[in-house]
Amino acid sequence: MARGQALFNTKPIQITQVKGLNDDLHLPVIHGSCTTCHDTTNASNHSVPAPLDIGLTDVARRTADMPLYTLRNKFTAELIETTDPGRALLTSKWQDVGRFKGPILRGLAARAPYFHNGSAKRLNDVVDFYDQRFGVGLSASEKDDLVAFLRTL
Ligand code: HEC
Repeated sequence: MARGQALFNTKPIQITQVKGLNDDLHLPVIHGSCTTCHDTTNASNHSVPAPLDIGLTDVARRTADMPLYTLRNKFTAELIETTDPGRALLTSKWQDVGRFKGPILRGLAARAPYFHNGSAKRLNDVVDFYDQRFGVGLSASEKDDLVAFLRTL
């Protein structure tokens, strides 16, 4: 658990292509960790109201039970295919397509499945998502440690 906590706080993650972070800050790469986004002490939600697109609604991650929306920007004619327009449903803004708030992580163990679309059945799937999406390079035992920590929140 303690090893997992240290990983959560300090394991380096190269954060790239996250809408709401890399684009808004004009930084192609942010050298961060889990706590860059889950930064509220002892609750681990995002302390600033910045909905983010971490790639969960990309077509490549769509499963048969998810809808597929094709959205067209009226001004630029750009097309986006997504399984969930996310915050754009509230704001009608193109930049908000696929953005979601970082949730509070307290009591995680009791509320599988995870992510807004339930795409991660278990906490191990959450950790695998981050490992692949950001190329973190977690070993099998580091993944187990991180899951052990997430279970205690
Ligand atoms: C770039 C920002 C960012 C980073 C880095 C990040 N997260 Fe997240 N996390 C989010 C956002 C945004 C969501 C909500 C996504 C959604 O459901 O659409 C989320 C959701 C989660 C959830 C699901 C919670 C639930 O109730 O479904 C868990 C667990 C989680 N993150 C753990 C981690 C761990 C562990 C790490 C480090 C390996 C990490 N996060 C790194 C932004 C981030």
